[in-house]
Amino acid sequence: MDTSDIEGDLSSILLTEEQIHAKIAEVARQVEIDYAGREPLLVGVLKGAVMVMADFARELRIAAPMDWMAVSSYGSGTKSSGVVRILKDLDADLHGRDVIIVEDIIDSGLTLSWLLANLRGRGAASVEIFALLRKPEAAAVEVDVKYAGFDIPNEFVVGYGLDYAEKYRNLRAIGILAPHVYS
Ligand code: IMP
Ligand code: MG
Repeated sequence: MDTSDIEGDLSSILLTEEQIHAKIAEVARQVEIDYAGREPLLVGVLKGAVMVMADFARELRIAAPMDWMAVSSYGSGTKSSGVVRILKDLDADLHGRDVIIVEDIIDSGLTLSWLLANLRGRGAASVEIFALLRKPEAAAVEVDVKYAGFDIPNEFVVGYGLDYAEKYRNLRAIGILAPHVYS
């Protein structure tokens, strides 16, 4: 759906579909150079990364198999605690593989820093991160994001895979959720 379909639910449009696709193409060109002659395994984190993964994988002009993980972070409210539980694990054996974690957003960075350590512990040759969005707080935790799409303000955003109570994932653009929706 488009922003016009949920008029009133967004306080503003942050990134259009065109801006998102241009950025994904830019990152894909860099990844093609960095991984020339190799076949990186794209690891998507469900469910938020579904849209980024679908567009990024198709944009790549090199072979890049996909695998998926689902994790849930323990914690009260909307802030993650850094304690992560695996709900669905990877199918692939990571031994000797070059892994690129594909994520929708890095907020506190706690989930990704846990994931990074976990995947590195499985004998992968390399593990890097592509996060489409990054919030300023992410800087507070030492997470080395090799491919960062957009640095965005510290607002709750939805669309392009990102949800509020499972809604808005199928919005093409990314927008800032209007406070009246969640208050
Ligand atoms: P963190 O980096 O451990 O704080 O957790 C990041 C996760 O929180 C992301 O993978 C999203 O699922 C969720 N999240 C963080 N910020 C937002 C947002 O603005 N909108 C929707 N989900 C978000
Ligand atoms: Mg996520």
